[in-house]
Amino acid sequence: MAEDTGRGASRRAFLKGSVAAGGALLGAGAARAAEPDPLITEVQPWASGLGEGVDATPYGLPIRFEDDVIRRNVEWLTADTISSINFTPIHALDGTITPAGCAFERHHSGAIELKKEDYRLMINGLVDTPLVFTYADLERFPRENHTYFLECAANTGMEWAGAQLNGAQFTHGMIHNMEYSGIPLRTLLHEAGYSGETEGKWVYVEGADASSNGRSIPMEKALDDCLVAIKANGEALRKEHGYPARLVVPGWEGNMWIKWIRRIEVMDGPVESREETSKYTDTLADGTSRKWTWVMDAKSVVTSPSPQSPITHGHGPLVITGMAWSGHGRITRVDVSKDGGKTWETARLAKQGENKALTRFYLETEWNGEEMFLQSRAMDETGYVQPTKAQLREVRGENSIYHNNCIQTWWVKENGEAENVEVS
Ligand code: MTE
Ligand code: CO
Repeated sequence: MAEDTGRGASRRAFLKGSVAAGGALLGAGAARAAEPDPLITEVQPWASGLGEGVDATPYGLPIRFEDDVIRRNVEWLTADTISSINFTPIHALDGTITPAGCAFERHHSGAIELKKEDYRLMINGLVDTPLVFTYADLERFPRENHTYFLECAANTGMEWAGAQLNGAQFTHGMIHNMEYSGIPLRTLLHEAGYSGETEGKWVYVEGADASSNGRSIPMEKALDDCLVAIKANGEALRKEHGYPARLVVPGWEGNMWIKWIRRIEVMDGPVESREETSKYTDTLADGTSRKWTWVMDAKSVVTSPSPQSPITHGHGPLVITGMAWSGHGRITRVDVSKDGGKTWETARLAKQGENKALTRFYLETEWNGEEMFLQSRAMDETGYVQPTKAQLREVRGENSIYHNNCIQTWWVKENGEAENVEVS
């Protein structure tokens, strides 16, 4: 009892403090309190008639007032809409699950429409019994549910040379986080008689689209936690995310997560296809390139306030929030800096970090109109700390596009607007 009373009291104090601050600084709060508010005192249209019946929305979309929470692209980045990319509106989302309807898409040859009835998945190569599975076959294997992030290797890729795109959606929106229901790849490989006693040390996986997006994956990873997913966030995969089945490669760069997966060949070495050698490799300052960079290192970004999510509510309580993730496992801590990295405060994780999934963080603070250079810094269970841009450039130079996991800075101005900047 005593504890409850205590909590109630502090909550009241907080609310009172907030009203007082709003009133004192803006005036508007006090004026509203003096006049009767027609939104409270008068019967409004939505209360004087009937709402829509239950048949109006067999499958619902967000309410129209949220119609700016949409995927967007950067015109100069997408030469056409076929080999294309768009970005998740992370600045407007909360929690960790990305709604499928606004989760970014990346296609090398457009999104295809493939019926379940026309779906086939072949496992061939160095296996005892090459097999072809129909969709109905896949549904009969034991399934697992796991939430994982998918980050395109090119996420934040435009920011290497300097602060460029003005919005978290554009700098960090090539990411989504969904709960997948799928069959462990290991189960299917064993079904095809893969025993581990052959020379089969790699799998080559390809999709049914024209690009095929073929990728080589070491057998160790294939047998570890890869899934052939048939559902995301509880429902069928969306066409653009690989309906009816895609490969999930937890923690690894998005381009290996083959959509519309149609073939898995067990091989004695990697194929080194064009897209896995000329692309997705990191060219260093001396001109040599790193061969494989599969795991996405720990990274985080403040999603609000940010350029597309400015502070609009005046002085007083402010919720700073963002997300963090690591391809190496769980996020254990996120720090937030308001002064460009000189001093740090430890943020509150909404939930304990989950393996290779997004973690939401919050820093509840007071803002009195002073400018901020907002940053967030993620740490994962391996002890790794997200690097600054300068630290990353020291190792990687400025020739890279891919795998940029540096600390992001938003300059929040006195008027609450924010801008993408770099601090030195
Ligand atoms: N799989 C196929 N078959 N074709 C593709 O073009 N693009 C890859 C990967 N898998 C691609 C693919 C890339 S580069 C990324 S980042 C992810 O899919 C994007 O997945 P999404 O469209 O579900 O966001
Ligand atoms: Co990609």
